[in-house]
Amino acid sequence: MSLLSIIKECGGISNVVRVLNPDSRIIIEILDFDLLSSQVKQQAYNLQLKQVTYSKNVIENKDEFESQLLQVGRLIAQQQLQDITPYIKPVECEYRPDWHISPPQGLLNDPNGFIYHQGQYHLFYQWYPYACAHKDKYWAHLTSKDLINWQWQPVALTPSDWFDSHGVFSGHAVSQDDELMLFYTGNVRIDEQRDRHTTQCLATSTDGIHFTKHGPVVPELPPGVTPHCRDPKVIRHNDRWLMLLGAQREDEIGRLAIYQSEDLKTWTFLALCGDELGDFGYMWECPDFFTLNKQDFIVIGPQGIESPNKSHTVAHHNGIVKATLDESGKALLSDFQHLDYGFDFYAPQSLQTPDGRRIMTAWMGLPDEVDHPSSDNGWIHQLTTFRELSYANGKLIQTPIKELEKLRREHVVLPQDEPSFDLESKAFELKVSMEWGGALRLHQSDQGYCEIRLDKATQTLFFDRSNTLLREGDTLRELALPHSDSVQLQILSDTSSLEVFINNGEAVMSARVFTAKDATKISRAGEVDILDCWLY
Ligand code: FRU
Repeated sequence: MSLLSIIKECGGISNVVRVLNPDSRIIIEILDFDLLSSQVKQQAYNLQLKQVTYSKNVIENKDEFESQLLQVGRLIAQQQLQDITPYIKPVECEYRPDWHISPPQGLLNDPNGFIYHQGQYHLFYQWYPYACAHKDKYWAHLTSKDLINWQWQPVALTPSDWFDSHGVFSGHAVSQDDELMLFYTGNVRIDEQRDRHTTQCLATSTDGIHFTKHGPVVPELPPGVTPHCRDPKVIRHNDRWLMLLGAQREDEIGRLAIYQSEDLKTWTFLALCGDELGDFGYMWECPDFFTLNKQDFIVIGPQGIESPNKSHTVAHHNGIVKATLDESGKALLSDFQHLDYGFDFYAPQSLQTPDGRRIMTAWMGLPDEVDHPSSDNGWIHQLTTFRELSYANGKLIQTPIKELEKLRREHVVLPQDEPSFDLESKAFELKVSMEWGGALRLHQSDQGYCEIRLDKATQTLFFDRSNTLLREGDTLRELALPHSDSVQLQILSDTSSLEVFINNGEAVMSARVFTAKDATKISRAGEVDILDCWLY
């Protein structure tokens, strides 16, 4: 038999949801049992999963089988692209950001494949179009010339193939001449117990819009690692390519796996790194790598590490470590520091601009949270603003990208003696100088507000969103600051978010903030100087 004749017996391609290819079996998940041929109805059928199972022994021509699998994947992808068409239309919602990237419908999570290629920026994101739920992920695709105006492009990757049918998971891009290469994790679940199978896969494009999948380039797991192994970042190092992967060791300790390659196609395992950090969470997700001012850095999302303080109850952390790569490419890691001390910042990715800046964006949201007020209108989560990273005098500095100045529509002078002022908008930027003991309320209405306050006794900045419409997640963040007379803040506000850059970018706090539509007032108590205010 051939795979195509199996598909025919199963009611044709329009009756096939997915084809799975574990070990000795071929599993066809179908829509309608009645469309199966009478012969197949006798075949092993799993009623709960709606799956027909064949033994691989029925396949006569093994070489043809591989290419037929890809062919079937392309047909399923065509169907999936058609099915999502109605979900590409943005739903209206009072929480929809004015200037941040949010999904038209459904759930957005990690940014993916963030790169400058052939004269424009490409940004993909993890997307489940059909609901505010973490199910089989797609790669949505946007392009931009200026990092401000983004153009929706055809969805780049769908969960259509035997190697990624339960999610085209996160990954990065490589720009090689006129080819745009996407490395991602193919996520597959097998049988009732949903055994996880992960492989690292490649898809390429020559027009930057339409992608051809090539299947797994790393089909196996690194030695001693569980199937929690994902999110490839590919970098050039010492005349060869390295692939960094977030991984979980078999004793459930998070680590970084590294593979190497000469040609980006054939990969060999190099090392499992991170022992010098000890027991540092049960899984590390979404690595990134870059160099700032001659210092190499690796970004990781360690899950389950100790929280900086008791108001932080979330397992999912983000952070950056200094990395020392030896000749072979093995990394030594040190000096973990959070990239963001707010509520919502996870799975960041960065790119280098043509003028050499390192720009980062992240998922402004967290795993496990799927019930925000916007979910009532069928969409959830957004990406953070783009920030530029630099490193000087031992300090990591993060500042909003200069391109954002284009969004400044109107400069507003706030009356010095009025404690409260209505901006009549939630899309604005503030530059503020605050003395210890001061407090600033934002997104304020009669029903609620969000507060930033400076506690003099403990020299701690508190970011408090307990008086908002938030349904899930922590409501208080605290950050001890170095001793100073005053604290400088640059605040970027959008309809349902606040991002606070502290002391010229020495720390950042990002937050989803849901308040009433008329919560457009700002008010202050104590010594709080609004130095600049721009409406966006
Ligand atoms: C991080 C993450 C990644 C994974 C993706 C799936 O948020 O869990 O590790 O690839 O999301 O959507």
